[in-house]
Amino acid sequence: MEVVIKESYEQMSALGAEIVARIVRNKPRSVLGLATGSTPLGIYRELIRMHKDEGLSFFQVVTFNLDEYIGLPPEHPQSYRYFINQNLLDHINVKKENTYLPDGMAENIELACIEYEKKIEEAGGIDLQILGIGSNGHIAFNEPGSSLGSRTRIETLSEETIQNNSRFFPCRENVPRHAITMGIGTIMDARELILLANGEEKAGAVASMIEGPITAMVPATVVQLHRKTTVIVERAAAGRLSRCYPGELQVIRMNRDTK
Ligand code: F6R
Repeated sequence: MEVVIKESYEQMSALGAEIVARIVRNKPRSVLGLATGSTPLGIYRELIRMHKDEGLSFFQVVTFNLDEYIGLPPEHPQSYRYFINQNLLDHINVKKENTYLPDGMAENIELACIEYEKKIEEAGGIDLQILGIGSNGHIAFNEPGSSLGSRTRIETLSEETIQNNSRFFPCRENVPRHAITMGIGTIMDARELILLANGEEKAGAVASMIEGPITAMVPATVVQLHRKTTVIVERAAAGRLSRCYPGELQVIRMNRDTK
């Protein structure tokens, strides 16, 4: 795991976008794993800029989102399909038919989950997965207690997640209680991960993820085991790390393979 601490949200996002752009330039048919939420918005803005100003092409790219609420149709402004279209996909030259999210409206959710896994496999697996982290340490909607080997499935959202996500809804009661999420095992299969965190409210989860023991009670700790992970943290979110971090770039733990 490489941990990079940046001074600002903008710098964090710029580095994240650089990593995505590197992958897409090296492999035009890349498979990207996308996240929603506030954290990756800066990356998406920068990727849109790179597409418009620098000709970064997503024409052959395939995308898979981490998760989707159950019961919200794609045209619902709080659905993750709506979010990712609005904040990224509508502004780049990706083919919409190559962009996937779990089907939160499926009649047979279990089957939809199996099919999502199959689609990822058929696409050749995810080259780069973008992740945020919940203040309770969740990744995607894998809440504390999720099996570290889990695959795409239905998950009940924790009270903390419902509370955090209520900022996007008219009131707390409108936040769906269930979602389909890639599992932790699904995420760990990606060939590369970038995990971003900003804001003081993430500082506890970030400290556990980087310095704590690996535990299903803090699902993000599993990324310590991934062979190619870059954690990019803005200074406030790095505030509870106990080790000394002089300078801006600090590689605190390397468990990359030697390829
Ligand atoms: C979103 C997702 C979630 C978020 C996390 C942080 O697709 O999978 O795990 O990454 O809840 O959300 P924000 O970025 O809004 O703080």
